[in-house]
Amino acid sequence: MNLFNKSFLAAALVCCASVQAFSQADNAPQNLPTDYLTPSFHAGRRQALRDMMPANSVAVIFAYPERVFSKDVNYVYHQNPDLYYFSGYKEPDAVLLVFKEVQADGDSSYNELFFVRHRDPQRESWTGRRLGVSGVKTKLGFKRVYNSDEFAKFPIDLKKIKTIIYDDLPDDVGGGGAGSLKELLSTFKTKGEIQDVDKGLVNDLNLISRYGTPKNIDRIIAYIKPRISQDAYKNNALIQELVNKPDSATLMDVKAKIDASPSGLSLFEKFTTELRGVKTPEELVLLKKSVEISSIAHAEAMRAVKPQMGEQELEGIMLYVHKHYGAEDEGYPPIVGAGANGCILHYEENSATKVDNQLVLMDVGAEYHGYSADVTRTFPSNGKFTEEQKAIYQIVYDAQEEVFKLCKDGIKYGDLETKTREILSSRLIQLGIIKDAKDVGKYYPHGVSHHLGLDVHDKGEYGGNLKAGMVITVEPGIYIPAGSPCDKKWWNIGVRIEDDVLIGKTEGTVLSIDAPRKWQDVEKTVAEKSIFDGGRLFPAFK
Ligand code: GLY
Ligand code: MN
Ligand code: MN
Repeated sequence: MNLFNKSFLAAALVCCASVQAFSQADNAPQNLPTDYLTPSFHAGRRQALRDMMPANSVAVIFAYPERVFSKDVNYVYHQNPDLYYFSGYKEPDAVLLVFKEVQADGDSSYNELFFVRHRDPQRESWTGRRLGVSGVKTKLGFKRVYNSDEFAKFPIDLKKIKTIIYDDLPDDVGGGGAGSLKELLSTFKTKGEIQDVDKGLVNDLNLISRYGTPKNIDRIIAYIKPRISQDAYKNNALIQELVNKPDSATLMDVKAKIDASPSGLSLFEKFTTELRGVKTPEELVLLKKSVEISSIAHAEAMRAVKPQMGEQELEGIMLYVHKHYGAEDEGYPPIVGAGANGCILHYEENSATKVDNQLVLMDVGAEYHGYSADVTRTFPSNGKFTEEQKAIYQIVYDAQEEVFKLCKDGIKYGDLETKTREILSSRLIQLGIIKDAKDVGKYYPHGVSHHLGLDVHDKGEYGGNLKAGMVITVEPGIYIPAGSPCDKKWWNIGVRIEDDVLIGKTEGTVLSIDAPRKWQDVEKTVAEKSIFDGGRLFPAFK
């Protein structure tokens, strides 16, 4: 609701006295979950960040902007996962500063500052409670907390700090006014003399530094060449050096130079990737719960499915189960695609009014206290795979089984992809769907894995080896849209099976085991009774 519209103003004038009489104690939240990450978890993460930071540096982390859903209605707010990770704060219009060294401040000192959204009883009576300065102190354990409108005049001289570490700053933030994110960003740019940078170039230098090797130099040059006419690339000495003399020695020299003077942006990416890529025990409790809730929801959707059900209705069943078990949200827009729709990788419309006697692909994951699951199951709505569907399903299943065996400490992350392609291609050749292994990408157009955590496609190291404590997805898939150059009997079969795996020292643990996966178990589950069976809404439309 727009707090500035006339009806609000009228209501506010009428209700003002009673709102102000509403004390914070009377209005304390009731019956909240008790398993949120603790202040000591977040403090530990800030210390781990500080330990990685170079001398005389500060890390600056902003809240995500609010976004418009419809005119004067915003999307439900979602915090920047990095700010949540380091603070537990879930509100907009905030900035956190983590200093490497203790900063003197008269008789006192600090090594972190947090500017947060101010309390406002009137607005809170419309749009919900705010922690405010005192709540952030008592509930999140910060010592130096201020209202966000105090950042502009706060006496810190960021120009004295050698390295300012920060993430991409959004340049499309609306609103404004004292203490708004827009003001915080502009204050930061002024205080820190932050220049606008070409984010594409920073990203590319980062990629070269992290993943460039003499083996892939041709790919790197091929990637950069189309960009070198852009000013930022033309004026960058390192890019020019590499393009003018594209050999291994130059690549190694360029990498060393990038590493010797890293930008604040690339350091932020590097440190948060390293920290968030390996989960702590506290995080694993929440991530496991998120995956478990999602797995139970998948099983229930299998039990509930009927050919006359719509894609959205199946989505709703899963969302009900998520909410039932306390998941606040989904980690990404649910994908529920029947038949041909199952061949669209990130199909989000879910608009078919019935799934009919077809395969249904559901890629749906809950978000529990910030942690996202990512689970996909594919099942026949009538409980029986056709021979062709079963053959494709089994290939995907077998690829997954082989990749699970690699989910352990020390294995090269890239080996998971190599193994997947090897299995999918050889089996597609056996079925006569492709003739040459290099064509596997026609039917398997995505990667087999990504990190999972506060972001569904989480921060984490993709170029090196797996480490115990990482959580990744294993998600092979085969999609054969109508018109594909193979026997028609395969058309419109789309199968993805996606599980979430905790990397262990000697083996991985599949966290999503409660979602049936073997084709026999899937058929059995579809035949079972659901809690949604037999119910009838009143009044019924049909
Ligand atoms: N659900 C998005 C993905 O599987 O990556
Ligand atoms: Mn995924
Ligand atoms: Mn997925």
